Amino acid sequence: MRLSRCFAALLLLAATLPATAQSRKEYLLQTDWKFAKGDVPEAARPDFKDAKWQTVRIPHDWAIYGPFSGNNDLQEVKIEQNNEQKATLKAGRTGGLPFVGTGWYRRRLVVPQFGPGKRAVLLFDGAMSNARVYVNGKEAAFWPYGYNSFSVDVTPFLQANGENTLAVRLQNFPESSRWYPGAGLYRNVHLIVTDDVHIPVWGTYLTTPEITPELAKVKLRTKVETAGGTFQPLRLQTEIRDAAGQVVSTSTATLEQSDNQEFTQNLIIKAPRLWSPESPTLYTAVSKLYAGDVLKDEYSTRFGIRSFTFEADKGFSLNGKVRKFKGVCNHHDLGPLGTAVNTAALRRQLTLLKEMGCDAIRTSHNMPTPELVSLCDEMGFMLMVEAFDEWKSPKVKNGYSQYFDEWSEKDIVNMVRRDRNNPSVIMWSIGNEVPDQSTPGGNKIAKRLQDICHREDPTRPVASGMDRFDADIQNNFASILDIPGFNYKPHRYAEAYGKLPQGFLLGSETASTVSSRGVYKFPVVMAKDQKYPDNQSSSYDLEVCNWSQTPDEEFAKQDDLPYVIGEFVWTGFDYLGEPTPYDEKWPSHSSMFGILDLAGIPKDRFYLYRARWNPSQPTLHLLPHWTWPGREGQTTPVFCYTNYPSAELFVNGKSQGRQTKSNASNQSRYRLMWNDVKYEPGSIKVVAYDQQGKAVAEEEVKTAGKPHHIALIADRTHLAADGNDLAFVTARVEDAQGNLCPEATNELHFAVSGQGQFRAVGNGDPTSLEMFHLPQMKAFSGKLVAIVQASDKAGTIQLKATGKGLKGATAQLQTGVTP
Ligand code: GAL
Repeated sequence: MRLSRCFAALLLLAATLPATAQSRKEYLLQTDWKFAKGDVPEAARPDFKDAKWQTVRIPHDWAIYGPFSGNNDLQEVKIEQNNEQKATLKAGRTGGLPFVGTGWYRRRLVVPQFGPGKRAVLLFDGAMSNARVYVNGKEAAFWPYGYNSFSVDVTPFLQANGENTLAVRLQNFPESSRWYPGAGLYRNVHLIVTDDVHIPVWGTYLTTPEITPELAKVKLRTKVETAGGTFQPLRLQTEIRDAAGQVVSTSTATLEQSDNQEFTQNLIIKAPRLWSPESPTLYTAVSKLYAGDVLKDEYSTRFGIRSFTFEADKGFSLNGKVRKFKGVCNHHDLGPLGTAVNTAALRRQLTLLKEMGCDAIRTSHNMPTPELVSLCDEMGFMLMVEAFDEWKSPKVKNGYSQYFDEWSEKDIVNMVRRDRNNPSVIMWSIGNEVPDQSTPGGNKIAKRLQDICHREDPTRPVASGMDRFDADIQNNFASILDIPGFNYKPHRYAEAYGKLPQGFLLGSETASTVSSRGVYKFPVVMAKDQKYPDNQSSSYDLEVCNWSQTPDEEFAKQDDLPYVIGEFVWTGFDYLGEPTPYDEKWPSHSSMFGILDLAGIPKDRFYLYRARWNPSQPTLHLLPHWTWPGREGQTTPVFCYTNYPSAELFVNGKSQGRQTKSNASNQSRYRLMWNDVKYEPGSIKVVAYDQQGKAVAEEEVKTAGKPHHIALIADRTHLAADGNDLAFVTARVEDAQGNLCPEATNELHFAVSGQGQFRAVGNGDPTSLEMFHLPQMKAFSGKLVAIVQASDKAGTIQLKATGKGLKGATAQLQTGVTP
């Protein structure tokens, strides 16, 4: 029994081995993990029997399987940054999911290449949280902050021959977060086996100190580690390859005793192609480390060539051109998938944001998963990588403040070293709305953290998202920062500009407008903290929090003030937790701030931003839907989000007049609004006019009949057969004519056959208590998204959707095929 288990484990790693032996081997430890919830201290021991534990695949979020309950992490708090005067009970603040508690993961590990003269390192992309890593029963590492990457050299703990046991204990405390943090090994775990003489994790630092149209100077610093740190005469051969794999520059360097175990190579790339969001060109430096003729290690550093400046009055320039950040803040969860990282899910998010014209992301309020950073390099997004949501003074009882003194430097160092070669990263953020803005000495902490970033990476500026405006100015907190970022302060930008030395500022967090996809409330009025009995918010995009603004108020300042360098909207996607304005009213498990809902379906607001941010595409979007039985004759305002300057609205062919964008109000500057339209069933149609007054486009929304059938639309129909790839299939409940039934709530059922499995489903309804991993859910505003996961075998997948009284539908997907 034991023998065969051991053999299976050997196969497990051997299967991933390339045919020719190399000096470096990297394994993704995704399969064959055992998991149990609860604290089992004996589980660290190699002889512990875990056969009855659940078999899971990493990345894994143990809490996303629910069930939801308003009692999970119930918090009695006064949220200071929300201007609350007294503490109240908050039910869904962290999503109502069972992330609190302890969980254990175990895995057998056979490392055939390991032995004398070898090193083995475990690299965790992030583990939620308080990770204790045990190898063969001995504690090898502890890392409290769940969002950071960390590595541990497990050479002293590992056996060369036979089986090793890896065990990881994670523990999440109640009241440790302001949103859903997820739970467990929710990011990837890597095993890296190298020679004793090797380039360590994050061992290179590549900069491009000079860029002209003729050439780019590349400076590559490469650390080496040797047994006992002793000097050896080594040689490093580096080739820079362009995106097509052509070698464009080479360098060979030898290590001298005085080099302090670090190579420095200066290379030149002629006629460099620059990286930008619009043209994200990448290069790779491939370095080979030799001792004599023996290849000891091979290490790749992917990078991009771009320059940027932040200048007084002029603002931000990328590659010499002034531009403003068209950014969104995002939390790390992936809606129905929870926090379990998945590249296809991240790529889908970025594809949707690209379509909207977004060019920047703030990873609020923590370090992102490395897959996101790589995708931003490839797809063209500028990143503001953020470290913390609190420093020394707490926002939540058991939050990061308790680790801050001991861990903040280590956490920043890892954040910067991991991502400083990535061209997408444009700035670091040391914190979000930290209460230390107004505590004595808070500015000194800011200076200390900023200095650490500068020490580790002198090429990027440091920002912080600030909300305590007066304290920030008075305490010299804002003046210290490279980039002063203000959250929800468009009305004070001019004052900040006058009082601060930098000469520019950033809207580090903006809007916080709330809406539920496809839900419209009447009468249509601008309101703060508006609540309704159904725990939803209106999609007329006029409802905000007492501290926030409609998108248009921010737009006006962005457009009128040249020294404002852009904005990061709160948020791109709805996220689990923080269900403002329903923090106290269960059920409500997710935010309503998103431009897209929790399932990644665009809300109306998507088109408001698209009209502004994506000028290369026409946007012409009408709201609300036009199926209002019972509202006949009642005032039902119609809004149009468009980048055309004016348009005429028709109700059943009758003109409602022509509207032109005007400066009468911030709203009329960015939206076309017909506020007095009376509802009658039929259709609304808008005809758009260009600057010359020519009718150029039209859009029509019809009254829907009864739900008749399901329509399925997959975001991708060709998937990789890698056991990870996902298709996101939108299901629409339609009438017989193919119109969306905008209020349909039919329960839809899913069955997957072929080379894939049902993974999750989401409908974007913050009040739904249906679990994401079960293959049925009610449509919300006529739609939901089913997620199908490819197996590791090539073939076809069928996703069948059925619903009572509805004609069903089947989506066909293919795997293992490169389209
Ligand atoms: C900000 C905060 C965000 C989120 C947002 C909601 O104050 O930085 O994390 O809470 O408010 O409007």
